[in-house]
Amino acid sequence: MKVMSIFGTRPEAIKMCPLVKELEAAEGIESVVCLTGQHREMLQQVIDIFGTKVAYNLDIMKPRQTLTTITSSILEKIEPVLIEEKPDIVLVHGDTTTSFVVALAAFYQQIPVGHVEAGLRTFDKYSPFPEEMNRNLTGKLADLHFSPTENNKNNLKREAITENVFVTGNTVIDAFKTTVRPDYVFKDKDLDAVDLKNHRCILMTAHRRENLGEPLEHICKAVKRLVEKYEDIEVVYPVHLNPAVQEVAHRVLDGTDRVHLVKPLDVEDMHNLMDRSFLVMTDSGGLQEEAPACGVPVLVLRTETERPEAVEAGTVKVVGVDEDVIFEEAVRLLEDESEYNKMARAVNPYGDGHASERIVEHLRSWYEQKNN
Ligand code: UD1
Ligand code: UDP
Repeated sequence: MKVMSIFGTRPEAIKMCPLVKELEAAEGIESVVCLTGQHREMLQQVIDIFGTKVAYNLDIMKPRQTLTTITSSILEKIEPVLIEEKPDIVLVHGDTTTSFVVALAAFYQQIPVGHVEAGLRTFDKYSPFPEEMNRNLTGKLADLHFSPTENNKNNLKREAITENVFVTGNTVIDAFKTTVRPDYVFKDKDLDAVDLKNHRCILMTAHRRENLGEPLEHICKAVKRLVEKYEDIEVVYPVHLNPAVQEVAHRVLDGTDRVHLVKPLDVEDMHNLMDRSFLVMTDSGGLQEEAPACGVPVLVLRTETERPEAVEAGTVKVVGVDEDVIFEEAVRLLEDESEYNKMARAVNPYGDGHASERIVEHLRSWYEQKNN
């Protein structure tokens, strides 16, 4: 069975590389990796850490790219690769424009599609934008659906997608298990300036398209007020390379004491820093899955989440993008020990670190059934 894994952004790579490793080790499976290159440096960082062998890179990234240019360049450039390789199945991940467009291109070649991280939903078409529609359309195009949780499987059921839906856990936990070490020494020299021994570290990230502009400005201002109020906190913000994010983050936060605007961290530095942090403030999807697993509370800088499992468990709270609300919610956790302790419990609704193995087994059974 020839399995072609196609992905293009940092989070897809973090969650697909452990699966690719499993596919490479599996007998009877030929694994081929194609990158769309929707991201460049941020993607390469992950590929280097996992040592993933890449057969194709469409290298489509342009500064300040639009959804239309991402869509049209991938659609055009992936076609000859699919025709040349003729895989038995294409695997895509999650909810990026890469995921949706690759699923569409595979469908045009009548190649079956396996969707990893299937069934996450907010049921709000425009939030997150364009991810909610990307994952919805990918789900429609897919033949196999690998859902991290039962809740994700039930979301697909609501859309009458009931065949070949498998609950596997999230491959992010597979990745996480191999990156975090108690004796880890950070590679990024910028992190030497962060006093993790005597200060409480807030790890923040923000990059979502719907947060660009005013919401991101509110988020940054709330963070500035927090470090001005508390002398024992340090904020580490690895700033996404999107120029629209860089501009606001640097304009509002440059020169603020104990705020470290650093380059995107490689995933080992990132996971180990998260493990040593007091609090995570983020609009990222992946961080909402990772931080609960290491007992770090998360304030979600969005108005909704497609990951209700950790919210239900009490370790993640959705606080929105209003400056005062973000500030007050963080103050509550910084001041009230019992509130903090309620949230700082290690909770991991996303699996046992064996999701990749399960996915490979389901792929095998599907292929055997199909050819018998
Ligand atoms: C994309 C995904 C989003 C995911 C995020 C993860 C879509 C529409 N969005 O959003 O779902 O959460 O990735 O980070 O699929 N850039 C670089 N170097 C890089 C990466 C990005 O310079 O390695 C800059 C470029 O100027 C690029 C811009 O960032 O044009 C935006 O990248 P893009 O992939 O369009 O959007 P993201 O916000 O990263
Ligand atoms: N991440 C990283 N370095 C950083 C910021 C994030 O390795 O500087 C990791 C993070 O731990 C998580 C993933 O990237 O695994 C999340 O990616 P991102 O926030 O870009 O996308 P999202 O999850 O929102 O789609």
